[in-house]
Amino acid sequence: MKGFGPVGSELACDGVLLREAAERFGTPLFVYSRSAIEEAWRAYEAAFAPVPHRICYAVKANGNGAILKLLAELGAGADIVSGGEMLAALRAGFPPQRIVFAGVGKTDEELALGLERGIGEFNAESEQEIRRLSRVAVTRGTVARVSLRVNPDIDPQTHPYISTGLREAKFGVPIGIAGDILRRSRSLAGVQVVGVQCHLGSQITDLAPLATGARDLAGLSRELLDEGFPLETIDLGGGLGVDYEGGAGADPAALAEHILPAIDGLPLTLVLEPGRSLVAEAGALLTRVLYVKENQGRRFVIVDAGMNDLLRPALYGAHHRVEPVQPRGAPRVEVDVVGPVCETGDFLARGREIELPEPGDLLLVRDTGAYGFAMSSRYNMRPRAAEVMAEAGVARLIRRRETFEDLIDTEV
Ligand code: LLP
Repeated sequence: MKGFGPVGSELACDGVLLREAAERFGTPLFVYSRSAIEEAWRAYEAAFAPVPHRICYAVKANGNGAILKLLAELGAGADIVSGGEMLAALRAGFPPQRIVFAGVGKTDEELALGLERGIGEFNAESEQEIRRLSRVAVTRGTVARVSLRVNPDIDPQTHPYISTGLREAKFGVPIGIAGDILRRSRSLAGVQVVGVQCHLGSQITDLAPLATGARDLAGLSRELLDEGFPLETIDLGGGLGVDYEGGAGADPAALAEHILPAIDGLPLTLVLEPGRSLVAEAGALLTRVLYVKENQGRRFVIVDAGMNDLLRPALYGAHHRVEPVQPRGAPRVEVDVVGPVCETGDFLARGREIELPEPGDLLLVRDTGAYGFAMSSRYNMRPRAAEVMAEAGVARLIRRRETFEDLIDTEV
């Protein structure tokens, strides 16, 4: 069996019984399906096979070294936003020339580190950054390959916190002035302009805005090529959403249908930066029920995972399916699934109909492979969860659970 699903009367992942994983590694526990990651990767490769392309996995979605190593071995590049992600990606074996470095606030140290390590492309987010990159590169006697992130002012129809390509967002430069910035940057020493980039937002399920973005960027690229810019890449970012209700949703093939016509005939390598769509559905959070209680007619299922483990519901009101690992056939009732953290916003699911569990039961919070552990914290002095990779019936610990000593380790 591949991915998450029933084996007999209980849930498993890649042939690993989740009940056994919980007993062996404890809860809360993030469990990942190796086969699901491989399948998601293959879908991207197949969809974009007709054009020169490079799929750069957005490390921010899930930076566990085992997942990075798997994707590097499959042939992915990496999209990074910090020195930390850079070191993690290099450590996992991504060749530096297959790494693109994004982010509005790169420091001099991060730029220098990127140059030293031979990072393939710096996705610059302002004219100031290109000038700074030029200075840092000249001091080091090297040349930075630069792609300019443009903001096409397109509404990706997603949660406002993760819309990045709107005029009022902090990202990139307005598309109307991108050409002028690049013309001015052309004469700078230490930088070579190799492309343009955009990223409209995340969890995008209506693909029309992505098609519009592709057309806008293709138009700009054509203009620049006509002027003799030696462009090599057109980077359309990430953003493909997943169906958190468990349906099929949009897939890389649909994405290709929307964006490939726009770049048809351009002599450029298409770069994409998917995060969520490669790993979200390949992961789930396993948690144990501690208490079931009723307050003023509202039923609370209190579990051992909280907002510090999975922030998405509290931060975005995000929906994640919650399923019993060993269903009892109990009646379905409306509950709030909440964590132990001292905030009313600490919930994993609110007003959800599930079969009423009992203390000790295991619940599975689905589609948490992306922006799950990656956004976890130690709030309330709670050690962060462990992570396990399941593959062909075998569970491998890929991050141990933190201990109290880890919590105070950096205090001086
Ligand atoms: N490239 C850039 C420049 C990005 O900013 C992002 C995500 C990606 C690629 C990957 O996007 P994806 O394919 O994963 O949608 N914490 C939020 C998501 C924030 C995404 C930020 N940027 C969440 O949990 O929904």
